[in-house]
Amino acid sequence: MKKILTGLQPTGNITLGNYIGAIKQMKELQNMYDSYIFVADLHAITVPQERENLRKNTYNLLALYLACGIDPNKNTIFLQSENIYHTNLSWILECNTYYGELSRMTQFKDKSKKNVNFTTGLLTYPILMASDILLYDIDYVPVGQDQKQHLELTRDLAERFNKKYGDTFKIPEPYISKTGTKIMDLVNPTIKMSKSNENKKGIICLLDDIDLVRKKIMSATTDSDMIIKYDPENKPGISNLINIYSSLTDKTIDEVEKEFINKNYGEFKKAVSDVVVKLLSQIQNEYQKYVNSELIDNILQKGIEKTLIEAKKKYEDVKNKVGFIR
Ligand code: AMP
Ligand code: TRP
Repeated sequence: MKKILTGLQPTGNITLGNYIGAIKQMKELQNMYDSYIFVADLHAITVPQERENLRKNTYNLLALYLACGIDPNKNTIFLQSENIYHTNLSWILECNTYYGELSRMTQFKDKSKKNVNFTTGLLTYPILMASDILLYDIDYVPVGQDQKQHLELTRDLAERFNKKYGDTFKIPEPYISKTGTKIMDLVNPTIKMSKSNENKKGIICLLDDIDLVRKKIMSATTDSDMIIKYDPENKPGISNLINIYSSLTDKTIDEVEKEFINKNYGEFKKAVSDVVVKLLSQIQNEYQKYVNSELIDNILQKGIEKTLIEAKKKYEDVKNKVGFIR
């Protein structure tokens, strides 16, 4: 069976962008593939984290996976920091990666601009991500558009290692859905919806108060020409709402445009908020069942036992090829 894997960082509230870009895809694919999903807590500390916050966010993200419909019987769910082979492999790959490749990464350039005292981890972050994937012979990696460049680097590193040391790593492919690969901020639809955006009115978090969510969508930035048409360049706000609606209803963009052909922006926004609110209400109901539940520790235990065995096997092969004697 082909394998898929993804990870999310436990850095606070998970947004509708995270859901559409990564979690929803995993949920749909879990019936067809051998699925792995983890909490990228090592990636989270590339920027400063408070201990208690990190712990809380990690538990909450796990509860949210379950609440979103990630089935623990169909997925291997684990904690990145618990599996030592991720960082071990990462070091070896670091020694096969060029500084220039890392400093070119868009995400690194953006994040390092925000704080002049950025850490080395922020630079080497994509190598750890490559290790997460390459340890398990993954075929597809469901992610949002913003991770595509990191996936390309992963492929380059795998090919480089295979060429130098012989066939070792499977070359993974990104799995990016057509619509909703990049959900934009509601207030400023030219930037990505991200939990770190300053204006919270522009982002929808899965655990946001439902009335607030309606308000945020109803006041989303649009334009003045009153046509519901997909045109990201000239109509970024409306196109973003079309993307959200299309992803959550599984309708094509064409179908959405037809559905709202003679409708006004208010009617369209109401329809978008209805589907978002329906989804969030379901998730929030489920979330209450899982948050603080013992189930999570049991799931993590199963996940770490399985992934340690698999990752060790790959790492031993790598170690041996590199020339470490034991
Ligand atoms: P992060 O929040 O950086 O841990 O992202 C977790 C996953 O969500 C990654 O696969 C991202 O590509 C995806 N993602 C984050 N923001 C968005 C967005 N605005 N639209 C679509 N996918 C996103
Ligand atoms: N870098 C990803 C993000 O910030 C999270 C991540 C870490 C990841 N390792 C991964 C995603 C491996 C997919 C596969 O969103």
